[in-house]
Amino acid sequence: MKKPAHRFALATSDPDLHASIKKAVTERDQPSAVVLSRTDAAGLLEPDGLEQLVRSEANIVLLDIGAQEKAMIASSIRELLAQTSEIRVVLMGQPATAAELLDLMRAGVADYLPKPIENGSLEGAIDRATRGLTQVSVSPEGKGRVIGLFGPKGGTGVTTVAANVAIKLRELTEQDVLMADLNAELGTASILLGVRPRYNFVELVKNLHRMDDDLLRSYLTRHESGVSFLPSPLTARDLEGVTKQRINATVSLLRSAFGHVLLDLGNSLTPLAQAGLGVCDEVVVVVTPEVPALRNAKRLLPMVGQSLPGGQQALRFVVNRYDGNVDISLGQMRDTLGHDISMTLPREDQASSHAANVGRPVVMDGVGKYAKAISKLTRMVATPGSIVKRAKKSRGGALFARFRSGKKGAESKEGRRSEGAPSQAPQATAAKS
Ligand SMILES: Nc1ncnc2c1ncn2[C@@H]1O[C@H](COP(=O)(O)OP(=O)(O)OP(=O)(O)O)[C@@H](O)[C@H]1O
Ligand SMILES: [Mg+2]
Repeated sequence: MKKPAHRFALATSDPDLHASIKKAVTERDQPSAVVLSRTDAAGLLEPDGLEQLVRSEANIVLLDIGAQEKAMIASSIRELLAQTSEIRVVLMGQPATAAELLDLMRAGVADYLPKPIENGSLEGAIDRATRGLTQVSVSPEGKGRVIGLFGPKGGTGVTTVAANVAIKLRELTEQDVLMADLNAELGTASILLGVRPRYNFVELVKNLHRMDDDLLRSYLTRHESGVSFLPSPLTARDLEGVTKQRINATVSLLRSAFGHVLLDLGNSLTPLAQAGLGVCDEVVVVVTPEVPALRNAKRLLPMVGQSLPGGQQALRFVVNRYDGNVDISLGQMRDTLGHDISMTLPREDQASSHAANVGRPVVMDGVGKYAKAISKLTRMVATPGSIVKRAKKSRGGALFARFRSGKKGAESKEGRRSEGAPSQAPQATAAKS
């Protein structure tokens, strides 16, 4: 007989919780079965128990942990995940401290449900685990927003948007912002930012188990805007042995340390991009007004939505290189995609190519329509309430700002002035264009 796709192992000494888990599993619409059931999580975490777990071929394990298991849980999970990377670990227990959660996250735990378990949380956690998603985060206060950027076809402008929005987020929120290039190879974000990083994203993933705040900072490259940056791995071989769980856990760690994390997911659903999607709060899909980009977007949307915790609702569409002189209208694009278009970014060939060649994103000089549109997009994607800088009304334009400041690099003043409208809450500015 064919094995059900979702095979659960569970361990709890609480009969009510046991019954709730069994009910949640058997009532799922997808083929699911409980393949191992025990009343002691501690026993399952011992070497014999772990062996039994691996043999059961469970791909989701739900463990109700008490004080006894707390001490051994992180090391047991590390051991388990070293033997099989195909298993998602969901824990239930008394509310944990931030330090405990950080440790569990590093060990590769996918989810942590504090007890008493709220209505619907168990079903939600099971659903996320079966979709390969990671939820655990250090604390609600330390939970930064993860924004992915994806292009359904090469060259739509994803990396340019990511770099510019990262810089603008840093300026407008004054929070720590991280940008990571998750293109499997040949990522170009470091060129667009004009930086020469020492370590890449995958090196961080591989060293996650020994990461503390100081080590984390030493892996990052600081851009002159204040944005922290991690480039893509150089070759696909660098990705060997890097599991989705560890990538998820790494982004969860970054989320706990940064106000906003931007992931350049590139233009295809590589394992790296899919793992990144699994932890995004929102994904900005950058399309261009061309049939190939729209056709690919339409084909990829269901898969992108499937990997995203918030599903297709968490997608935002932006049309790049839109200058009104195009064959396809915004209405046609919306109908093709089945999604509203949040906004357009203008075509600016000369400024874009100069910015890429000198490694200085246009938003740093804050002039032009593209930079202005980036400000608008930044306000749309920022965590509501996180924007602290007020835009000032222009008095004489960007050129005069240079004279007043006496130097060319008056980036932030020009940037603010270029927005041309008073600061508002992000929701209020998220009008459709
Ligand atoms: N609005 C724009 N107007 C004109 N040129 C643009 C615009 N946006 C991006 N470009 C240019 O298009 C090229 C591709 O941009 P970018 O590298 O950001 O795309 P991408 O989607 O990340 O590409 P890839 O698929 O290779 O990762 C760059 O030369 C960039 O300067
Ligand atoms: Mg790119």
